[in-house]
Order: sequence, then structure tokens, then C-alpha cells
Amino acid sequence: MTIFVTGGAGFIGSNFIYYMLNKHPDYRLVCIDCLTYAGNLSTLKNALQNPDFRFCKINICDRKAVYRLFEEEHPDIVVNFAAESHVDRSIENPEVFLNTNIIGTSVMMDACRKYGIKRYHQVSTDEVYGDLPVDRPDLFFTEETPLHTSSPYSSSKAAADLLVLSYHRTYGLPVTISRCSNNYGPYHFPEKLIPLMIVNALADKELPVYGKGINVRDWLYVEDHCKAIDLIIHNGKNGEVYNVGGHNEKQNIEIVKMICHELGKPESLIKYVEDRKGHDMRYAINPEKIHRELGWYPETSFEDGIKITIKWYLENEEWWKGIISGEFQYYYNPKYSNH
Ligand code: NAD
Ligand code: TYD
Repeated sequence: MTIFVTGGAGFIGSNFIYYMLNKHPDYRLVCIDCLTYAGNLSTLKNALQNPDFRFCKINICDRKAVYRLFEEEHPDIVVNFAAESHVDRSIENPEVFLNTNIIGTSVMMDACRKYGIKRYHQVSTDEVYGDLPVDRPDLFFTEETPLHTSSPYSSSKAAADLLVLSYHRTYGLPVTISRCSNNYGPYHFPEKLIPLMIVNALADKELPVYGKGINVRDWLYVEDHCKAIDLIIHNGKNGEVYNVGGHNEKQNIEIVKMICHELGKPESLIKYVEDRKGHDMRYAINPEKIHRELGWYPETSFEDGIKITIKWYLENEEWWKGIISGEFQYYYNPKYSNH
């Protein structure tokens, strides 16, 4: 079995590669990643020594290069993680989101059509459903919730989802889609809420909380997401969408305070800053379908997961210090130059 993992040098893709190499030692995994600011080869250091793993620096929009790799490797399954993934960046510059997230998805699926595939899996997000009100805790996203996006990021992901379903209906491509809630864990790029707060708190820097900090996200430990994808690619039904989430809703401010507490840092580091434009209020997944049909459930509680994550950042300073010294400064510092 050969699996192509696009975006495997990023946060979730790399966790998936490690999970799969460990769980299925007889599989061959080929990572396709063009190493944007969010992709880092050092993340895959331990996989690169494995003879069943190959890394290819390829942009998923590069049709020729993608086709060439299909001819060489004959993959059985493609799992498409590659994406521009940060909402704030999509607000500043939507174009690259449209190219990678939509065009790149179509190139990968065209290759699957041309060379044949057992399964094309699209890693999507709960953000395609838009947001829910904070005062209606009874409401959750199901697979039937209409797509209703807020940001250029979520719009590009929703466009890709529609394209994936259209390739299934029009060409009969065997596809599945997972729509997961916010992930956290090792190798999370420190521009996203949890890793940013950890690395800033460790350096006694301000912790920028958007608006009032009352927006709610439904957090899932990354390994539980990887397990869900492993189940879907093997046992999921063609043409189906599966929501993935663990009923773990938290306000942003709760998360930031918890990180301060765990690290023994004062809450006075918290700084309320200008709100994100179009900021989604609440995400909350109903994961009944994947539980009922595939037996998936989250195994790591938030209380354990956040401790494991903080410990990982404490023990892997070299990884994130390398990252925050480069292009990230260029993006991050001007953002807060007024605060
Ligand atoms: P990430 O930004 O950490 O990693 C993205 C990876 O894709 C990077 O390694 C980058 O180099 C690569 N990439 C970007 N453009 C590419 C291109 N054109 N060609 C080849 N490689 C390219 O993202 P992530 O957080 O790991 O998210 C992975 C996927 O999961 C995305 O599709 C995202 O929409 C989805 N998702 C993320 C979350 C989350 O909480 N992070 C939740 C649900 C779904
Ligand atoms: P983020 O990690 O960017 O994920 P997403 O926007 O995809 O949910 O942000 C999570 C939440 O944290 C979101 O409500 C925005 C908020 N946030 C802050 O308050 N401060 C920050 O510096 C960042 C990056 C995010």
C-alpha cells in the first residue's frame, strides 16, 4: 500500500505521517510538500531515516510534477492536507489560498482520475459551516449543516469540498472528506492560538487575545484526528463527509489562562487586541456519524492533551526557535507594532 500525503511537512500532515508509519509498518508513505513558511523539513527528521518514507518537494499546483510522481509511485490512496491554513493570513492575502486550496485540490484529483486510485481523501475543516451563536449551546455542526463561510480561508476550503464531491458525482472518483474542529499538539506552527501563547508566555511576551476572548473553538488533540483519517480512508464510504470533533468547547480566554497557569506565568501578560475581521463566534462539531459508522471517539482529554503539548514545546525549543526567527518575524511583528 502506497499513500501520498500532501502537506506532510506541516502540523497535522506530519503527525499523520508519524502515526501511519508506526501503525502500518508495511505501508509506503510519500510526502508531497513545497515547504511554504508553514512547512519544515526538520519536522520530518525522524521519518526521513525510514526506508518506507519518501519526501518530494513539489507544489500540488504543479501538474507536471504531480503526474510524474504518480507515474513513479502508483499510489493507492491520496490524503490531501496541503493548504494555506491561517485565517489571519487569508484576510491579508486571499490569492495564495485560492491557488493552493482550490486549484491544488483539482490537480491532485485530476492525477487520481488519470492514474487511478482506491481513495482520495480531502482533509477539510469545520470552518466551512461558518459559525454558531455562543448563546445556543444546543446547536452543533452536522454533515448536513449548509456551507456558510466567513473568511477567504474557509471559503477556499468549502470550494475545494464542493469540487471533491463533484468529482465523485461526475467522474465517479472514490472520495471521502473529513471536517475536523481545531487541532492542537506537537509541531503546531506558532502563529496559531495555542502554540503562539505557549512560546510567547515562555518568553514573557504579551499574549494577544482578539476582541473579548469569548470566541469558542472545539479543540481536538491532533493524534485523535489522525486516527479518524486512518479509519475513514480504510472503512469510510465513498462520497461521504465525516465530521470529526470531541465535544471540547472552550473560550479562547480560558485556553490562554490555562496556558499561563500551566507555565506558572502571570495573567497580566494577556493583552486584549483588535478583533479579527469577520471573526467566527463558535465552532462545535457533532461527531455522531463517525462514532456510529466507524467507531471513532477521541481518546485524549483536553486536560491531558494540553499538558503533553506544553511539555513537547518545552522539550523541543530548537524546533520552534528556528521557526520564529525567520519569515515569521516578518509576518508577526508588523501585526502588533501598534500595541
Ligand atoms: P499547516 O499550515 O501547518 O501545513 C500546511 C502544509 O502544506 C505545509 O507543510 C505547507 O508547506 C504545505 N503546503 C502549502 N501549500 C502547498 C502547495 N501548494 N503544495 C504543496 N504543499 C503545500 O496546516 P495544518 O494545520 O497542518 O492543516 C492541514 C490541513 O488540515 C489543511 O488542509 C487544513 O485546512 C486542515 N485542517 C486544519 C485544522 C487545524 O486546526 N490546524 C483543523 C481542521 C482542518
Ligand atoms: P487560530 O488558532 O488562528 O484558529 P482558527 O481561527 O482557525 O480557529 O485561532 C483560534 C482562536 O483564537 C480564534 O478565535 C482567533 C483567536 N486568536 C487570538 O485571540 N489571538 C491570536 O493571536 C490568535 C492567533 C488567535
